[in-house]
Amino acid sequence: MDEREGMGRRAIARCDVLGAPPYSLAVDRLDRPFLTSAHAAAGAIIGGWMTEAGLTTRIDPIGNLIGRLGPKDAPALIIGSHIDSVRDAGRYDGPLGVMIGVECAQALHRRGRPLPFALEVVAFGDEEGSRFPVSMMGSRGMTAPLPLEQLELTDAEGISVAEALTAFGLDPVRVNDAVRGPGEVLAYVEPHIEQGPALEAAGLALGVVTAIVGQARLRVRFKGVAGHAGATPMPLRHDALAAAAEAVLAVERVCAAGPVDLVGTVGRLLTPIAAYNVILGEAEIGVDVRAAADSTRDAAAAAIRREIEALAERRGVAVEIEVAQALPACPCDAHLVDLMEAAVASVGVSPLRLVSGAGHDAMVLARIAPVAMLFIRCAGGISHNPAEHASAADADLACRAMLAFIDRLAEEHA
Ligand code: GLV
Ligand code: MN
Ligand code: MN
Repeated sequence: MDEREGMGRRAIARCDVLGAPPYSLAVDRLDRPFLTSAHAAAGAIIGGWMTEAGLTTRIDPIGNLIGRLGPKDAPALIIGSHIDSVRDAGRYDGPLGVMIGVECAQALHRRGRPLPFALEVVAFGDEEGSRFPVSMMGSRGMTAPLPLEQLELTDAEGISVAEALTAFGLDPVRVNDAVRGPGEVLAYVEPHIEQGPALEAAGLALGVVTAIVGQARLRVRFKGVAGHAGATPMPLRHDALAAAAEAVLAVERVCAAGPVDLVGTVGRLLTPIAAYNVILGEAEIGVDVRAAADSTRDAAAAAIRREIEALAERRGVAVEIEVAQALPACPCDAHLVDLMEAAVASVGVSPLRLVSGAGHDAMVLARIAPVAMLFIRCAGGISHNPAEHASAADADLACRAMLAFIDRLAEEHA
């Protein structure tokens, strides 16, 4: 097997290894939340692959795994993505970008010709936000101090971020030491599966991202009156779950009536108990709203809030709506986009420019450095689903395009 052809195959094979215990908490699905034993196990094996590739590794104070090649004080080109997952995940959303970074580092290390900048491969610990109510804690913690109250946020078991950091072997008091200093990051590039169908429809293996849509998370808590399912007449109920159900449909209605790029999802519904014979007194939903323009997203979030407040009042149910997170839309750096386009063309793929509807660590790194993203075709556009699939051949093209990109950037900095 030609070493270059092997890059994509090995990247995919490593993602597959990471798809089962101990790199997943569950045996029957991939579940790797931030700061869990599965996250630690994944960090250990990936750290070993980074070392083999010639990188010097460390875990930063917010739990990101960082492998570095090149001079200690030089600004770094970071290739990164995340290694946490949603609760029943595919194997490539996040880890494939990290594995491609490791392949690039290994190829450059073997080549032995130094780059005019350092190269870092970063495996962010929390992009999905599937454990705590906020997301991107890994990349946010690298770009700016985390708001102190976020260390007190708790997961479904009541464990706080601070406690989880301690259990992971980190010191919550030092968490802000993860913030990178001015000039430390030359640029950030994230290879990632597309998670949509555009590349497959165009018959193309790779695409270049021009912008990432903004996203907001609303945490909505209903408080009604718990009651007996048999003995409480329908007009006398204050059913928190029925209010939450109506709110789910309000989110769908508001977003379906907006422009095509506006999307709204409720993928989180929590109740303190589950019972056939109890009218539930409490329910919580998590609302995710996204659009290409922040003004569109904010107007939709405001309309959703008005609808939810009105339905709660009509039902005699109290409601609390909290904006858990609002990440602005993020344009990629125009020059790096051009460079990535040329790199993609150089490996024989006609470059297609795309907007990302999914969120990525790149939208956070953009606060401190120019960013670019390379998209890799995924079968049927399916993602956040165990059926997610990317091919070794496409991953191989991605590795080669990334190396071509790095060479072009190196020429500019020579
Ligand atoms: C992450 O996959 C997100 O887009 O929320
Ligand atoms: Mn994801
Ligand atoms: Mn992802």
